[in-house]
Amino acid sequence: MAADKVFHSRSQGIPSEGVKDQYADGIAARIWKKYIGDSNQRTQNYKDFLTGILRKHGCSNVLDAACGTGIDSMMLVDEGFKVVSVDASDKMLKHALKARWEKRKDPRYDEWVIEEASWETLPQDIDSFLPGAKFDAVICLGNSFAHLLDEHEDQRTQKMCLENFAKVLKPGGLLVIDHRNYDAMIDSGATPGHSIYYNSKYPVDIKTSVLVVRGKPELVALDYCICPTENGDVSQKSEFRLCYYPHKLNKFTQMLDEAFKNRATHDIYADFKELSQVPEPAYYIHVMKKL
Ligand SMILES: C[S@@+](CC[C@H](N)C(=O)[O-])C[C@H]1O[C@@H](n2cnc3c(N)ncnc32)[C@H](O)[C@@H]1O
Repeated sequence: MAADKVFHSRSQGIPSEGVKDQYADGIAARIWKKYIGDSNQRTQNYKDFLTGILRKHGCSNVLDAACGTGIDSMMLVDEGFKVVSVDASDKMLKHALKARWEKRKDPRYDEWVIEEASWETLPQDIDSFLPGAKFDAVICLGNSFAHLLDEHEDQRTQKMCLENFAKVLKPGGLLVIDHRNYDAMIDSGATPGHSIYYNSKYPVDIKTSVLVVRGKPELVALDYCICPTENGDVSQKSEFRLCYYPHKLNKFTQMLDEAFKNRATHDIYADFKELSQVPEPAYYIHVMKKL
């Protein structure tokens, strides 16, 4: 099947400046919150996978490096982890800060730190509010890293950000980072409608467009549409577009190994299962353990 739209461009790369904070107008942030639901709507598979792997490796303090509206962080706080949550988008953080305020009577939430930080300046940003802090684990989940488009052909900004994740980890610490299966999305032009992360109660239609620059797929745009339902649960159509860098599995694996200077173990999971068990997964999840 062909992509819903394929753009061919002869321009010099991708428009990284224009899409830096894709949540800046607040619209995607508001609809995203609706799309993902609350922490009770996390799939059990996801929750078991993440908390299981963190506990197995003895991680207690966790940096959620793409906390968005705070949903993963809250799941971890509820499970007894000590969480520092950062995001580059103040529009997304606004929802996380509100959620923390609503939980102010729950003592587990007293120590939940929420701050603005960018992957590009992560060690310095963290130093500014928690000097010298290093973490047992860094998570960057929900296809977040692919938000970082990189106008450099050698992907140097992305590589620097991955190195920054490695820098803020303690020795023995874990990086858990995912991306959609862009290899399959580019080949088929389609995005799986279901999510392994969210049990969204809303019917979501996702239209896929691929931008091809000099014969190479350089950007995937997903148009999310939450459609009206017959029973009236959803009365209005809500739409937003997010643009992603289409990380191919082999290349991203290599970039991660290099970011850790090949001094990390590297396991790859498919939809939270062993790679061999899922022939065409929706997501790949990489777990790096810094040596
Ligand atoms: C799809 S949301 C996912 C949020 C959350 N993990 C979830 O699953 O709901 C991606 C998040 O990555 C954040 N982000 C994108 N680029 C970033 C950067 N350079 N530094 C920090 N956060 C960034 C966005 O602001 C957004 O909140």
